[in-house]
Order: sequence, then C-alpha cells, then structure tokens
Amino acid sequence: MILINENFLKLQDNYLFSTIAKKVEKYSQENKNNKIIKLGIGDVTRPVVPVVIEAINKATKEIGTKTGFKGYGPEQGYSFLRKAIIENDYKSRNIILKENEIFVSDGAKCDCGNILDIFSEKNTVAITNPVYPVYLDTNIMCGRKIIYLPLTEKNNFIPEFPKEKVDIIYLCFPNNPTGTVLNKKELEKWVQYAKENKAIILYDAAYEAFITEENIPHSIYEIEGAKEVAIEFKSYSKTAGFTGLRCAYIVVPNELMGYTKKGEKISINKLWNRRTCTKFNGVSYIIQRAAEATYSEEGKKQIKENIKYYQKNAKIIKEGLEEIGFVTYGGKNSPYIWLKVPNKMTSWEFFDEMLEKTNIVGTPGSGFGKCGEGYFRLTAFGTIEDSIEAIKRIKKI
Ligand code: MLT
Repeated sequence: MILINENFLKLQDNYLFSTIAKKVEKYSQENKNNKIIKLGIGDVTRPVVPVVIEAINKATKEIGTKTGFKGYGPEQGYSFLRKAIIENDYKSRNIILKENEIFVSDGAKCDCGNILDIFSEKNTVAITNPVYPVYLDTNIMCGRKIIYLPLTEKNNFIPEFPKEKVDIIYLCFPNNPTGTVLNKKELEKWVQYAKENKAIILYDAAYEAFITEENIPHSIYEIEGAKEVAIEFKSYSKTAGFTGLRCAYIVVPNELMGYTKKGEKISINKLWNRRTCTKFNGVSYIIQRAAEATYSEEGKKQIKENIKYYQKNAKIIKEGLEEIGFVTYGGKNSPYIWLKVPNKMTSWEFFDEMLEKTNIVGTPGSGFGKCGEGYFRLTAFGTIEDSIEAIKRIKKI
C-alpha cells in the first residue's frame, strides 16, 4: 500500500492562479465575443528584447558546432553568468559576493519551494498575510508550523515581529501581492530580529527592478550583517521577460549558518550546494547566455524600456482608480496595484462582478490569505492599450 504525504490533503484544492484560469476559461467559452483583459497573474506581455534573442541565437548555433557543443553544465550555473550577476546586481550597490554564493536556477518559484529541503520540518515559519501562495503551500506540504504576520492598512503593510519564536521568515519586498515596500530602517529591524533569534530570512526580491523611490533597499544585503541571516531570491521573469524562458538565481552567503540538534554550526551554502548537485542539472547553456545578455549595455537599455512601460501602466491603473474614488496601495515601486474593494463586497464577489461587467480579470485578495479579504490585485504587466481600456471600462460602471 502506497502511503501518501497527507500534508497535501491540507492544501486548498487548487493553486490560486489555476482556479482563476479555470473560471476565466469557462467565462470566455460562454461569452465568446467579449474581449477579456487579463490583469490577474503577473505574467509579462512585452516580447523578449532583441539582445536576448541575439544571445539565444548565437548560443544555439554554438552548441551545434563541434567546439561549441555543451553537455551537462555546472549545477550551480556557468561562471560567466555568476560573474555578471556579482558585478551588475551587487558590486554596483557595494555588495561583495563570491561566485560560490550564487546559484542559477530555472525560477524563483521553484527556488522558494526547493530551499525547504535543507531545513528541518520542526522549524516554525513566519509568512505575511496576504502572501504569495507558494510560501504557504510549500510549507503546508512538509507539515511545518506556520505563523502569520498580517499586512494591513493598520500597520501600513509593515509586518510586525511575531509573538512566538520563529525560525524561517519569508519577506517579499516590493511585496507581492500588496505592492508595498519596506524602507531601509524597517528592513534593518528584521535583520536584527533574525540575528537575535537565530532565524533565517528568505528574502524574495523578484520585483526590485520596479523600485522608483530612494531609500528602498533593492537587496537585503544592503543591510549590514544581512549575509549572516538571509538568502535572497532573484528572477529574470518580471525584469527581463523570462517568464517563458525560465531563469533566476539565489544568493546563499558563506556566512550563513544553520544548526544541528546538538547545536553544531553547519554552512547553509554547503547544504544547498549538496542539494543542488544531487537534484538539479543546471539551467540550459542557451538560457544562461540569454540571462547574461541582459547585463550588456544594450541589454540594460532595452530592459529598462520594458520596465518603464510597465511602470507607466501601473501609473495609469493606480491614478485612474483613484480618480474615481478607489483606495489603492502599491503601484509606485511595484507592478502590483492593491485596491480596496468597494461596497463591503468580498474579494471573490468583486472578482465576479469585474469579470462579468467589465471583462477584466484581476486576482481576489482573499486568495492570498485572510487579511487580503476585501482587496483586489491588478497587475501592470498588460499592454498599455489594455491598461487604458481597463480603466475606461471600470469608470463606466
Ligand atoms: C503572481 O501573479 O503573483 C506571480 O506572477 C506568480 C509567480 O511569479 O509565480
């Protein structure tokens, strides 16, 4: 008799974005003539930029030659990409990292789940509420105790320290789903908290490229001492349009230590490296060359244009909603606009009303957790035409 992991039975039936996709599919089948505007899942719409395509073509040709052929690559990522990451994403911010601290992967979503392999199931986890569902579900799957840190208007969307001791803390800033940020001082407090409590912060910085304001950290390592307590997750998905190409990386500093039951210190980097070598064979050479191209002068320029495009969408959506009396958060340093649902409707009621009356798809706040009830998330990753049209339609109703 095959025994299953019964923790899976504690999960909701479907992953949030699959539930939404199914609902939308059903609606569009029944209303074939309606033009649906999808501002639900944060998937990009701008084509992959020319420098990246050139790099893909070049690398593809290369592996078709005798001298350029590549078999298995290093599990942790090719040196050329790890070096480019260190130079461009960190050294430029006065953060010094070593090559062995960078692990290239096929996505931050997978990394967020996979990292849990190296931590004991006995650890207590703190996640914000609302939260990106992956942090929650992956911890339910392995049966960890979960503590919620509310992100509400009352606390200005700044998580407060948990009342009981926690070991693993997920922080995502700019935040998904609320689009809000932590300033340097606020993040410093969390680093300090982690140090005092021998806890680890899993810092998801997937949206840092959308930061526009000063004094908002782009990396947790801008905070002194953070290398001793934090792993950082980064992704090319939203910044460089890699949602389909798949490439991301995590930083696991050499200073970071975990403990055995007996209290011996163990290098987290070593554990993650061991796990990576056993369970992963690296991202394809072609895609790593593509990621590397994002750091060329031309690459940076082209990507910045795309980010500006999405930032403009965020502004159109946020200002458009506020003009007609909606209360909104986020959208300034983030591609997500978190709006307060009017007339005491629930998030799902508002989702249905938006779909039926305006043919706009967003994400119900309650799908991200209890504290998201009464909110709704729109993304700026649509086209500019759709963002303008969406606001027009909402204004009409
Ligand atoms: C979101 O919409 O929250 C994200 O696109 C989901 C993801 O990155 O996996």
